[in-house]
Amino acid sequence: MIISIISAVAKNKVIGSKNGLPWHLPADFKYFKEKTLGKTIILGLNTFKSIGEKPLPNRKHIILCDKLDYKVPEPNGGSGSYFLAKSIDKALEIAKKLSEQENTLIDSTDSLQSGLGQKQKQEQEIFICGGAFVYKQFLPLANRLYLTYIHQDFEGDVLFPDFDLSEWKEVSREDHQPDALDEFGQVKNKYAYSFVVLERK
Ligand SMILES: NC(=O)c1ccc[n+]([C@@H]2O[C@H](COP(=O)([O-])OP(=O)(O)OC[C@H]3O[C@@H](n4cnc5c(N)ncnc54)[C@H](OP(=O)(O)O)[C@@H]3O)[C@@H](O)[C@H]2O)c1
Repeated sequence: MIISIISAVAKNKVIGSKNGLPWHLPADFKYFKEKTLGKTIILGLNTFKSIGEKPLPNRKHIILCDKLDYKVPEPNGGSGSYFLAKSIDKALEIAKKLSEQENTLIDSTDSLQSGLGQKQKQEQEIFICGGAFVYKQFLPLANRLYLTYIHQDFEGDVLFPDFDLSEWKEVSREDHQPDALDEFGQVKNKYAYSFVVLERK
């Protein structure tokens, strides 16, 4: 199982303010969605609250919290879109089970199909989606970091934890300038930013 951290980080390492994001960067929402769709995500209770206490569509959520009787309505009255864990070990145990279930599903799909078109059984990737407290606990265990560097300082009250860049190699980088004014005189993505992927050496 690949453990990936995904976070948007300002130049001064700020990642949040008053339990929200200090910026509006639609390109990063889109990137986050592309990377995490269909995956298991692990997040802290504060972060889950910051997104309106609603599971995001098509992702399984493991929410770290102390109260295991915490309940929120599931989308369309369903079940199984979120799980609660009281420790990072428990969160990883749940993630492993979900990943085994996914592989069993792929196996049974494969046995129904023959030859071409078989879905490849892959090592499952789980995403650690914050916030600061959760990043800090998972950083020593992470294999990959998806960091959106936003190239300016922001005021905030939570920071991405310090890490030793020399332990990581950059495997991809996409640099973006702020958008130009659109036809309505608006700027969609106001800041320069880079999508950077790092893998542990
Ligand atoms: N820039 C980004 O990409 C990004 C991404 C995510 C979040 N954020 C920001 O980060 C901020 C939230 O971060 P945060 O550090 O305050 O909170 P957090 O990490 O989201 O959640 C912390 C809470 O999660 C629970 N928790 C975490 N680890 C646990 C463990 N091992 N065992 C049991 N419970 C555990 C505890 O809840 P209880 O003790 O209450 O049960 C803890 O108080 C917000 O501003 C948010 O917008 C930014």
